[in-house]
Amino acid sequence: MTSNQRRPLIAGNWKMNLDLAGAKALVAGIQEAASRADGVETVIAPPFTSLAVVAQAVKGTKIRCASQNVHWAENGAFTGECAAASLKELGVESAIIGHSERRQHFGETDKSVHDRLGAALKAGLLPIVCIGESLDEREAQETWRVLETQMKGALEGFAPTDLSVLVIAYEPVWAIGTGKVATPAQAQEAHLFIRKKVASLYSEELATGLRILYGGSVKPDNVDELMSQPDVDGALVGGASLKADGFSRIIGFQVPAAS
Ligand code: 13P
Repeated sequence: MTSNQRRPLIAGNWKMNLDLAGAKALVAGIQEAASRADGVETVIAPPFTSLAVVAQAVKGTKIRCASQNVHWAENGAFTGECAAASLKELGVESAIIGHSERRQHFGETDKSVHDRLGAALKAGLLPIVCIGESLDEREAQETWRVLETQMKGALEGFAPTDLSVLVIAYEPVWAIGTGKVATPAQAQEAHLFIRKKVASLYSEELATGLRILYGGSVKPDNVDELMSQPDVDGALVGGASLKADGFSRIIGFQVPAAS
């Protein structure tokens, strides 16, 4: 697979926002942009409470619905969690796993991320695994160590063939919800590091086909430059995915033709 075959993926993580009416209105508001964006995959991740409604609303359209988490067990005594099969039943096709807010506030670990990834792969949910360093870690020059540890922890033990659908989202914690976006060069540097690491840990083929999204203060006015980077294959968008106009512009990002 060549880098040209990495289909750009724009994902909106709604986090804990929007009521049912707001969710329906937002889906309606981005349909046109999603259907117009040729060759771009659009994914939206509403909160669990609106998954059923949103999955229904995007059925038969180019938009795919994702959950913001998925549990590793098939069922059982796991209060507050959600099994892959229950998500699939609703028409959910993808799952965000290991978001830094889960790691930071809810004790998510590399091991739990790994196990959740296993469940997503088994169920055929497109997994979007999030990794990223905090500001302290970046300032202490620990970015590469952190990314490597998170990646190894999440991916350990899976066969390269299992991981062929894997999507990694590089989300530096210091850029999330802060308005402080990584520069295109910083994003490119991290994405290239991730790709090279996947090549050395797994295979060149897996690394070349791997889609790596950037997340952290992606907005309509910075998406074009970020998407122009050779190793940035998409975006995981938080705040700016909640407004139909802005997210539509992000889905329709423009990369200047190479001269
Ligand atoms: P913001 O786009 O609001 O910075 O959030 C990014 C994010 O966490 C997406 O998962």
